[in-house]
Amino acid sequence: MKKKIVALGGDGVGPEIMEVTWEIMEKAGFALDIIKPLHGEAAWKAGKEVFPEEVKNLCQQSDAILFGAQGGISREILYFLRWQQDNFVNIRPIKYYPGAKSSLQDPQGIDFVILRENSEGLYPAREGDLNFLAQALPQFKDRMGKSLADYGHGKFAIRVISERGVERLAKFACAFVLERKKQGYPGKLTVVTKSNVLSQSDGLFQKGMEAECQKNVGLRHEHFYVDDAARRLIRFPRDFDVLVTSNMFGDILADEAAELVGGLGLAPSACLGGKKPYFEPVHGSAPDIAGKGIVNPTAMILSAKMMLDHLGMKREGEALEKAIATVYRDGKTLPPDQGGKASTREFARAVLKEIQ
Ligand code: IPM
Ligand code: MG
Repeated sequence: MKKKIVALGGDGVGPEIMEVTWEIMEKAGFALDIIKPLHGEAAWKAGKEVFPEEVKNLCQQSDAILFGAQGGISREILYFLRWQQDNFVNIRPIKYYPGAKSSLQDPQGIDFVILRENSEGLYPAREGDLNFLAQALPQFKDRMGKSLADYGHGKFAIRVISERGVERLAKFACAFVLERKKQGYPGKLTVVTKSNVLSQSDGLFQKGMEAECQKNVGLRHEHFYVDDAARRLIRFPRDFDVLVTSNMFGDILADEAAELVGGLGLAPSACLGGKKPYFEPVHGSAPDIAGKGIVNPTAMILSAKMMLDHLGMKREGEALEKAIATVYRDGKTLPPDQGGKASTREFARAVLKEIQ
């Protein structure tokens, strides 16, 4: 039975990277049934619904979804894939492929993973007028002894760290570290919080992670505050194995870490743990280069590799990764973000040639 994949390019450069990715997989003869429904920016331009009910149903009936990028128009698709499916973990590998244009002089051997909590924290954006919160919580005082009303007019955002959210992420993270250890990785989990300031919410995150780590024999763990972690990522990138953190910190650190290994053009991700897994590049819709045919599709192709691994198609996943690694090592057909002159299609053709 062929695995059923729904390919949603989304907005901006999303459709361009998606098209070459499915072409590679189809031409390579992978046993996939890739469905490409009209949606997102293309639908919007044609005066159609961005994410109609039929497309939602297709997603629900699929084995996995590939998503390109959202640039505002496809926001509801992202909401559906992340929150309605409850995909609570975002796996963001940071791996150097020789030939990629790193911001470091010596990026050799960088190979770690960021696990970002994907469902809570600041992200569901519970924001509003400060007056509203001040009225709802008249007795509530901050660390300085000030009440909310003392701040006058303004806005607030609520950051939620739930016990359930921490527990399920901790279990996932520990199992993930031990699975990697079997493949020869160090077996270490780095927990990143700001628990020195946010002693309750991030205190809960840190303690929950540490408690789960202690239950797992053969797993080492350490903790860094997020500012220190940001610095260590650049200074000691090879010291990391798996880093786990809350939603917003993960968003920021993943972009920073991507620069160690060639930038956002190469950063893939997988969103798992919920009803339907989906796979997307870390980068956004890049409207400044959309439609020019020059976007680097590596992050999308490596996201497809993560999907194939997840679906148990290891051989196909490895073929994609090996082809990418060869094209970078060879260096003759790299896109502009990597200092080359290749178009999106030329790069994709070079990748396909390595597979066939
Ligand atoms: C990402 C992106 C998204 C996020 C945006 C597009 C909402 O930056 O996947 O990292 O912040 O999560
Ligand atoms: Mg981001």
